[in-house]
Order: sequence, then structure tokens, then C-alpha cells
Amino acid sequence: MLTVVDHPLLRRDLTILRDKATPHGLFRKTLSDAAAILAYEAMRGIVLKKRPVETPLEVTDGYDLAEEVVVVPILRAGLGLVDGFVRFVPEARIGHIGMQRDEATHQPIDYYANIPGGLDAAHVYVVDPMLATGGSASAAIAHLKRLGATNVVFVCLVAAPEGVRTLHAAHPDVPIFTATVDREIDENAYIRPGLGDAGDRTFGTGK
Ligand code: PRP
Ligand code: URA
Repeated sequence: MLTVVDHPLLRRDLTILRDKATPHGLFRKTLSDAAAILAYEAMRGIVLKKRPVETPLEVTDGYDLAEEVVVVPILRAGLGLVDGFVRFVPEARIGHIGMQRDEATHQPIDYYANIPGGLDAAHVYVVDPMLATGGSASAAIAHLKRLGATNVVFVCLVAAPEGVRTLHAAHPDVPIFTATVDREIDENAYIRPGLGDAGDRTFGTGK
């Protein structure tokens, strides 16, 4: 399942993020704001359990989350989306997976993983601003499934059609939420029109 989240504030945020004149401080803040809108939509599938809640006047029905939420950013750029999720679910556990694309082959190389236990009973949100070839997301999700994850959602800001196809083929059970599906990836595996290198623009590194 692919959901392209459509909200006027998200369109405005995406424009700020695409703009090459946006400095990294504003880029980081806007990425976090956009992530909150994506998180709000992606977390509609969360399951609740009922409990009584006592207001100052009487007892009524209330709800708690029925399952743990685990957010897993794909390092580095995925870190920029975490705040957008934990502002709604501050008790979420955060796992980290380090993936770096090889500049020549564009294949992901995993260099770090630190994932909380209990994945089998958790809603797992894998977050990364960019879904280009789909290699990094597919490998990260395969890693989480090997650790027991069964309920995984992938959330990104910009997807390429190739990345959507690859991720759907590798993990047909994983819904994808994105703000846009862009035209294509180029010969350097950058998304066009895209927003450039999300990691460098978030952290103020690169040229
Ligand atoms: C970027 C991005 C994704 C990946 C997407 O990370 O944040 O993780 O590329 O490309 P793919 O779909 O073709 O695998 P990058 O490797 O540039 O690392 P960084 O986040 O550390 O900058
Ligand atoms: N990674 C990025 O940061 N940007 C792209 O366009 C593709 C992969």
C-alpha cells in the first residue's frame, strides 16, 4: 500500500525542503514539522485499548495504546524525522540502523544497529526522508524482520517510483507513507526533482 499524504502544510514544507537556498537550520526544523504531519497519518493504524478515566466530574471511557511503538531512523538522515513521531508518542522506543550507500554501486552498506527488544509485539515505524533505489529501506526492514518485527510501516518524505517498486517487491506487507512520489532517479541514484542530499542538508555537512 502506498499513501501519498496530501496536506497544504506538508506541500509548503516540501517546497522549503526542495529549495536549494534553504539553510540547514531551517531545513532541519521543516523536516521535523513535515515528519509530524506524516506521523499523524501513518499512525492512524495504531491499535487502542479501552480503560476508564476519571475526569473531575465522573468516570468515562478512555484509551491507551495497546502496543508499543518503536521508531527506527535509518542513519543519518532518518534522525531528522524522529522528533515528528515522538512528539505524539513520547514513550516510543527508538532503534537505530546505520546504512550508507556506496557512491559507485549505490548499494547500501550497513554499519550500525541498535534495536530495542519486543519488536514482535510492536508497531515499528522505519523512517528516512528519501526512498531512492529502495535498497537502504529494504535492507533495514529485512534486518528488523529477522529480529521479529511483523508490523512495519515505512515513512519517507520523497519517494522515487523505482524505490516504491523495489520496497513493495521485497516487503509487500509494509505500507509506505510519503509526501510525494517524484519523477525518477538519475544516474547518480539521486531523486529528481528531489531535494538533494538529505543527510548533508539536515546536518550542514557536504559542499
Ligand atoms: C540516503 C537516504 C537513504 C538512502 C536512500 O542516505 O537518507 O538512507 O540514501 O537511497 P536508496 O533508496 O537508494 O538506498 P545516505 O546513504 O546518503 O546516507 P546519510 O543518511 O548518512 O547521508
Ligand atoms: N539520498 C539522498 O539524500 N537524496 C537522494 O536524492 C537520493 C538518496
